[in-house]
Amino acid sequence: MSKASFVVAVAGATGAVGREMLRTLEQRSFPISKLVALASERSAGQKLPFGGGEVVVEELGPKSFEGVDIALFSAGASVSREYAPIAARCGAVVIDNSSAWRMDPDVPLVVPEVNIEAAKTRPKGIIANPNCSTIQMVVALKPLHDAARVKTIIVSTYQATSGKGQAAVEDLLQQTRASLAGETVTPTVFPGQMAFNVLCDWKAGEDDYSEEELKMVNETRKIMGDAAIGVSPTTVRVPVVNGHSESVHVQFHRPMTADEAKRLLRGAEGVVLMDDAYAPGKHPQPFSAAGTDPVYVGRVRDDLAVAGAIKMFVVADNLRKGAALNAVQIAEKLFVQR
Ligand SMILES: NC(=O)c1ccc[n+]([C@@H]2O[C@H](COP(=O)([O-])OP(=O)(O)OC[C@H]3O[C@@H](n4cnc5c(N)ncnc54)[C@H](OP(=O)(O)O)[C@@H]3O)[C@@H](O)[C@H]2O)c1
Repeated sequence: MSKASFVVAVAGATGAVGREMLRTLEQRSFPISKLVALASERSAGQKLPFGGGEVVVEELGPKSFEGVDIALFSAGASVSREYAPIAARCGAVVIDNSSAWRMDPDVPLVVPEVNIEAAKTRPKGIIANPNCSTIQMVVALKPLHDAARVKTIIVSTYQATSGKGQAAVEDLLQQTRASLAGETVTPTVFPGQMAFNVLCDWKAGEDDYSEEELKMVNETRKIMGDAAIGVSPTTVRVPVVNGHSESVHVQFHRPMTADEAKRLLRGAEGVVLMDDAYAPGKHPQPFSAAGTDPVYVGRVRDDLAVAGAIKMFVVADNLRKGAALNAVQIAEKLFVQR
């Protein structure tokens, strides 16, 4: 597709990821001749800020993708399962944020810093954007994997409420207000008290691991192109508005030291190494990561229990690098000459 500017559709434009998608396209001056904002019939007619003006939301339907060059999907898996093939048949390249297509062998699962080459072969016209927790972890692992090949990952996450969508953020805020006022907390989205609490907030998968945990296992192997990588995850929802954090322990096929890991991470694509763990504000934090592009890596230490292994703390904005930015970066790498 060699063009100077593109017709871009965003399916799910009114959601947490969709709104970030519009902001990201605008901030990065993505060459757009027309933006088509799509959502459910609930939002048809709503106006969203874009390009210094406003764009009117249209109801998603089978004809929405006529003339569209690039279709960015963030409207949930069932919408993607139904409409991504329709968009592809209309000639659009689909970049899908949902889980619908990620493990399909004919759909590349892409993080530009790790495997952008995979995006060039897309038999179904669909490229999948990985799960947010997986994206930030593999960006941090990539330079280490290239040097010493990752063998085993033990990861615990601290995931923000925006990872569950806009309504979940509103639930956290109303629960927090009710708690502070001494009123009864009535959850509307979370399966219980989210304010001042941590939750296991996903559906059950296999072997007592949650669906979210299994995504981290399977997607990491697919993106890194190494089915032998062992991934042992525990995912946890915390009362943070935006920005996922992860404590990551990594063992390699040869010994790695924290000093070597820091050398490899310093200047790695997409990574900001924060090297002064005990100085205020100098370690990765979701509050300061929110609204920014990088994957922040800090607290890189030699593991005390396993010789030759390292530990690190990895933070990124889940709506941005974990979703919208990653999708826009894929589109840029494929179609935009800079
Ligand atoms: N949040 C994250 O950090 C994150 C990260 C990676 C991937 N994702 C994935 O991205 C997708 C969207 O997540 P989100 O957090 O943005 O959710 P959200 O805030 O709940 O937004 C959902 C969006 O989908 C639209 N939608 C829902 N049902 C629809 C239908 N039947 N037809 C057309 N549009 C429909 C909604 O439109 P209305 O406003 O009209 O209801 C809204 O625009 C999900 O698949 C999620 O797994 C999210």
